[in-house]
Amino acid sequence: MNWSKFKAYYLNLPELGFSLDISRMSFDDAFFSTMEPKMQEAFAAMQDLEKGSIANPDENRMVGHYWLRNPQVAPTQELSQSIQSTIDKIQAVAARVHSGAIKAPAGKFTDLLVIGIGGSALGPQFVSEALGKKNRDALKVHFFDNTDPDGMDGVLDVIGDDLKTTLSVVISKSGGTPETRNGMLEAQNAYKAAGLDFSAHAIAITGEGSKLDTVAEQEGWIERLPMWDWVGGRTSETGPVGLLPAALQGIDIAGLIEGAAKMDMATRSAETLKNPAALLALMWYYASDGKGSKDMVLLPYKDRLQLFSKYLQQLVMESIGKELDLHGNKVNQGLSVYGNKGSTDQHAYVQQLRDGVHNFFVTFIEVLKDRKDTSVEVETGVTSGDFLQGFLLGTREALTGSGRDSMTITIDEVTPQAVGMLIALYERAVGFYASLVGINAYHQPGVEAGKKAAASILSLKTKIHAFLQENAGKSFDLEQIASGIGASGSEEMIFKLCRHMAANAQKQVVVEGSGDLFSAKYSFNA
Ligand code: PA5
Repeated sequence: MNWSKFKAYYLNLPELGFSLDISRMSFDDAFFSTMEPKMQEAFAAMQDLEKGSIANPDENRMVGHYWLRNPQVAPTQELSQSIQSTIDKIQAVAARVHSGAIKAPAGKFTDLLVIGIGGSALGPQFVSEALGKKNRDALKVHFFDNTDPDGMDGVLDVIGDDLKTTLSVVISKSGGTPETRNGMLEAQNAYKAAGLDFSAHAIAITGEGSKLDTVAEQEGWIERLPMWDWVGGRTSETGPVGLLPAALQGIDIAGLIEGAAKMDMATRSAETLKNPAALLALMWYYASDGKGSKDMVLLPYKDRLQLFSKYLQQLVMESIGKELDLHGNKVNQGLSVYGNKGSTDQHAYVQQLRDGVHNFFVTFIEVLKDRKDTSVEVETGVTSGDFLQGFLLGTREALTGSGRDSMTITIDEVTPQAVGMLIALYERAVGFYASLVGINAYHQPGVEAGKKAAASILSLKTKIHAFLQENAGKSFDLEQIASGIGASGSEEMIFKLCRHMAANAQKQVVVEGSGDLFSAKYSFNA
């Protein structure tokens, strides 16, 4: 390892308790000067974005997540006021829930069920895990982040009788995402089955006038908070989406906002070598040839940060994974992200990182403070925390030894400020990287395409079910069903849908014939 390269590229931000070391990336001295013109363009684009330009052209929207932690920089006074009054409202709602001024008919709220998906769940999940105090939280937090019935049953089992004092927060920017809508309906059903009124336990966070907003208004839910169209789901953690659940859990959201605002300040610098978000974006560009040829492996050596890689997987891959560039050329951009936590991962895939296929670069996250209290010595003079750091440094050394690139982020400890800082750092790095490779980071056409495809499959399933029901008592093979519903050519899909219906008794579809899977017959069992 080269000590002078380390000193030259070690960026220390003492006022943030943060540093970034890129010296174990194998770029040469010419890299930064070659990239500087592009980086200056990225700084200029970011400045325009912060001033309120239409930085998301495909959706004709401004991109304003940076205003959330610094409302006075929003482009109009009306927006600044809307952000500030929403933060005040979040603090007030949380305080009133904690004091019991807002309570369930059965008493003070004890639990919180957050219902959302993607950008409306991953940030809250990450922050909850990173900053929670487990059984000392103000409210115990649970999530519905999928439309898996068994998954939701599991969550409801954990909540048990405490459902009567569980506050549900339903989060959907669009207010029409099926998984979240289903989660809400499943929750409503569970409350009803327990003799409880969902609306007296529910808060909505959604776009004004959305389906969810209308339902919440009509049913008289406890509160409705806004989700502005200029904040994307995956960059909404410092807006109501992230702040309300965190505040209800008892997390210091002022600290989170403060940390994000400080990192925003540091990453506005147009001096590339002093800007940690610019350095990250450039290292991603260097490592993956600006086209995602290598994966980003994230290894935080801290249990509290284990959901950071999952959160970043979405932030980076949904933002960068795009078919077209800003000029409409087909580029199929992307940057894959995966990881979990060290040293646990050393007993999983780190073996391949060191010795196997060379298709990645690593970002280590080191946390200097081990724990609140003093540690027992597990060997003379050595604590578990010493081992944790030893494993991080040892793995980094081993990877360097086998020619694998890595970076290291160091933070003092996992505090609300540090978590806000990490979120803001990566949000801006993604924005810079998108500029470097010329794509729109702020839309998600692929997610919308998936939603549309699911809708047409569900309608096919409804047709199959209606066909079998209308012809109750008769049985049909897959080809007959396909021609019966005018869907010849969709036999494979019909095969999958029939098997699912037959596996779930409430559909009353039975399968006959234990032999050839493909000539089995299906019928409706009235
Ligand atoms: O980041 C995004 O935009 C998406 O992941 C959304 O958050 C996700 O699809 C959920 O959308 P919504 O909040 O509209 O329910």
